[in-house]
Amino acid sequence: MREAIKKWSIETLGATGDFDVLPVIGSKEFVAWLPTLLEVNSVIFPEVAYPTYSVGAILAGATGFPVEISPSAWPTAQLAWINSPSNPTGRVHSESEMAEVIAWSRKSNSVLVSDECYFEFGHGVKPHSIMEFTGGDNTNILAVHSLSKRSSMAGYRAAFVIGDSKLIARIREIRKHAGMIVSLPVQEAMVSALSDGEHVAKHRERYNLRREKLKPALERVGFTIQESKAGLYIWCTRNESDWASVEWLANLGILATPGNFYGEKGARNIRLALTATDKAIDEAVIRLTNAPAHGSKND
Ligand SMILES: Cc1ncc(COP(=O)(O)O)c(C=O)c1O
Repeated sequence: MREAIKKWSIETLGATGDFDVLPVIGSKEFVAWLPTLLEVNSVIFPEVAYPTYSVGAILAGATGFPVEISPSAWPTAQLAWINSPSNPTGRVHSESEMAEVIAWSRKSNSVLVSDECYFEFGHGVKPHSIMEFTGGDNTNILAVHSLSKRSSMAGYRAAFVIGDSKLIARIREIRKHAGMIVSLPVQEAMVSALSDGEHVAKHRERYNLRREKLKPALERVGFTIQESKAGLYIWCTRNESDWASVEWLANLGILATPGNFYGEKGARNIRLALTATDKAIDEAVIRLTNAPAHGSKND
């Protein structure tokens, strides 16, 4: 399994230089426990982000710092998370943004972890892995991947981390005693999933088609789509409170997530998941198309 992960990382992510791999039982578990395993006292994460980065800081008793994308004003911290493609926004880091965060890590001698679990779901863009920009020096750099999204295997709890060999050796040493070890049948399933890219291409096509159907229907009723260049979600706003948008959609029988779940900065956005079935997405499009236009008398 470790060889399959290594091969995939070189061929798909463009990883270079010396790096090690560590399978983990789901990336949520890893995100939640990494600050504890590394005994860090400060954790940086994006200001609009998957909540488990903050939860991990809390579990470790560390100070959490929600930050902007650019590291130019980041505080000093022992560990920083980036997430590209992002949940919930679908934002994708540019090549120069990747280079900037690596420079930040080198300058501050801090661990930089790139959560790349939506890596293979670009929509007209090609997401980059942090591993592509290290120039073969992976010191203090880790990348996290998960088969939950890539291969729809969330129930298997199958994920892995790659990067700095010394850091991974340290985590492995603790993990030997703390557990969270991937079971043998799941290891076999990971090898099968990683050796096939065809199912991933099919999933990508399916999600992107759903996004293309929903976008104009949402725009028609007054939503502005932001980012949403990759991943499994549409991130949009109607310049009103997230709960007002959630309620308006709920009245049509459409379930959206309020953006404040991902940080205060998301409080005027909502997130729609493209994981609903094609039938449900088509039905949502019909309901949005038949709904009164936003701001009209019947709205
Ligand atoms: C950004 C991000 N990281 C990690 C995870 C965790 O995924 P899993 O634990 O299924 O690997 C998720 C799940 O939604 C996510 O959105």
